[in-house]
Amino acid sequence: MLTVVKPPVAASAPGKVNLHLGVADLRDDGYHELTTVFCALSLRDTVTVSTADHLQVTVSGEGADRVPTDHTNLVWKAAELVAEACGAYPAVSLHIDKNIPVAGGMAGGSADGAAALIACNEYFHAGLERQTLLDMALELGSDVPFCVMGGSAIGTGRGEQLLPVLHRTTLHWVLAIAKEGLSTPAVFREYDRLVARNRAEGISTSIGSPDALLQALAGGDLHAIANHLGNDLQAAALSLYPELRYTLRAGKDAGALAGLVSGSGPTCAFLCEDADSALAVSAELAGGGVCRAVRTASGPVPGVTVEEQAN
Ligand code: C5P
Repeated sequence: MLTVVKPPVAASAPGKVNLHLGVADLRDDGYHELTTVFCALSLRDTVTVSTADHLQVTVSGEGADRVPTDHTNLVWKAAELVAEACGAYPAVSLHIDKNIPVAGGMAGGSADGAAALIACNEYFHAGLERQTLLDMALELGSDVPFCVMGGSAIGTGRGEQLLPVLHRTTLHWVLAIAKEGLSTPAVFREYDRLVARNRAEGISTSIGSPDALLQALAGGDLHAIANHLGNDLQAAALSLYPELRYTLRAGKDAGALAGLVSGSGPTCAFLCEDADSALAVSAELAGGGVCRAVRTASGPVPGVTVEEQAN
């Protein structure tokens, strides 16, 4: 068969932190109803699509050895979805260059799926409309539509019904990457267990509505933003990974304004006063032995971005 070599296409997508992650009851479809405020971060993965004999995935960068390279990888599924929609054969190589922690609660796999969708749309000249791509994104996973969109947004439903949020200030973060990953379904299961136990004892621990946070974001009031960060999954992540308590305490002791578990964890995200303070906090945490690696990042940043032609 004659293989037509097309120019490679590379796209990058951001990781995220949930400034607010409110979890409601488990739905019949196995997902929880969420109210979440996402902020896209400057930690980005890049996916490069190029011609190959058959569909294949390679990975480099942070945690590459823990990323699957078969059909379970979201980039593989993304290439199949786009190729099928435009009647092409997905004979492509997909290379992922990772910066976002693997299994870290920062939507690393989702970012890869988002970047692959947009890169494949370009590579195959599929011309799929934005809504079609967003529908495919949700088929890949709950966080993938936000990774396509980026910026700062409130998400409801599974987290995919997105509305942009007025966000007046750049937030500077330090991310403490844990030694082990956490499985998102396992953290949600632990959340259900803890909620059932608390309900039996008449205790409610929900973080409630995001209104105060949204007001703080719109006003650009950094200290109010820090006071209103919250994550209903944090107790479940801490229950499965108790050492994270030390990490959270160490970040605050190092001078962060606030710290929380990012999404389903185990990455801990620390909001800092400014870029200089973030550097100081990251240096202190890196020397403290409470995590595997430390990164700084800022946000909000744009969603998927197609890079300059790779050759
Ligand atoms: O959508 P995604 O595949 O990323 O979700 C991974 C898992 O996280 C789901 O299978 C489910 O266990 C849990 N989840 C949930 N409620 C959500 C999103 C994810 O229970 N809104």
